[in-house]
Amino acid sequence: MTGHGAVTGESARGVHRPACAVPRQGMTGHTLPRIVTGDQRSQLRALRETWPHVYALIDEERALALATDGERDDFGSAENGGRGESYVDAQQAHPEARIIGIRHLMALVVGPTGGDRPVVLDLLGGDGLLHRVCLRPDMPDATVVTCDAASFMVARAWAAGVPAVWQRAQRQVFRSGSVDGALLAYGSHHVPEPERQDVADEAWRVLRPGGRFVLHDFAEGSPVATWFLDVVDKQSVTGHRYAHFTADQMRECLVRSGFCTVTTNWMFDPIVVTGTSKRAARAALGRYLVQMYGLDKLVAAHGHEGASMVAFELARRIFRFDGIGNGMGDGMGDHVGECVVERLGPSEWRCVLPRFALVAVGRKPEPPGTA
Ligand SMILES: C[S@@+](CC[C@H](N)C(=O)[O-])C[C@H]1O[C@@H](n2cnc3c(N)ncnc32)[C@H](O)[C@@H]1O
Repeated sequence: MTGHGAVTGESARGVHRPACAVPRQGMTGHTLPRIVTGDQRSQLRALRETWPHVYALIDEERALALATDGERDDFGSAENGGRGESYVDAQQAHPEARIIGIRHLMALVVGPTGGDRPVVLDLLGGDGLLHRVCLRPDMPDATVVTCDAASFMVARAWAAGVPAVWQRAQRQVFRSGSVDGALLAYGSHHVPEPERQDVADEAWRVLRPGGRFVLHDFAEGSPVATWFLDVVDKQSVTGHRYAHFTADQMRECLVRSGFCTVTTNWMFDPIVVTGTSKRAARAALGRYLVQMYGLDKLVAAHGHEGASMVAFELARRIFRFDGIGNGMGDGMGDHVGECVVERLGPSEWRCVLPRFALVAVGRKPEPPGTA
């Protein structure tokens, strides 16, 4: 493990801030214009109407040249062979199940000083979960821009009140030097290995000097990767054969792009759900897993309720971290290493499924004399 301790940093104040003032993120997200799925022009028009300060950062020519997602896509609709609907259902049923990890990632991408309403790209944004979680007053006051390659996900984001940008992380539509932070998280292993350097290079391009790129993945060989291979690959209609990142690959990618003060560390990134009884909390976790990972074959074999209990049991067995055995050294801190179900009140139980992820952080250097 190549952990280098605490992240160093400086103000996230943007030197390329757009002319119009950046409003609080909560000012959007109510009634949004309708967009046409898969039509970049209508999405750009809607963005210009809703979020002119974000639209101002986009290079229209690049955006209109976007290659459409004609291929089958894991996060597309079920009709097109994907598992997008059930993924979104899971996030909407338990929007705060992953808030511990999201909070940590936001702190890393915004940096210690926060800056003046930084604009952060959520490069694998899905239907806008991170944007919605970041509307909470106790989250950093950043504008989180949901970006996704799947037209289905972008459409679901707009429909849920989150403005979104249709782009591939490998070829982004933002202007060079225009944003304060870029986050590649919760799905980085879906980027094909030969294209991962392109993503880091593009993050470098769109970031302003001093901006941060945060790259997160569940490490190759970790219990979470085992879950994907042994359960998601076998029990979902999409399968799941993707190489996860290693710490060395993350570091190499960021350094090659030119990022400085690159760190790689472990972070606690659990799934937490609640229920009115011990059994209900376990079932809620199982149901979340079935939906999030599209475990349709488990449902076909066991019915909905049975599939939830089987998924819970499989996760309980697989998600076990003991630090040294997982190559994490002392990276676990005081966090739980196995699934716990604990009582919070007379009829409130909480189920915590531990996950540890790798996270690399790099900063785009400022020209000498400007830091
Ligand atoms: C696991 S989902 C994560 C969604 C959301 N961030 C969350 O945590 O719920 C991964 C998302 O990444 C998108 N995706 C995969 N490869 C991508 C790429 N190369 N560029 C942009 N988006 C991509 C998928 O369409 C999907 O919506």
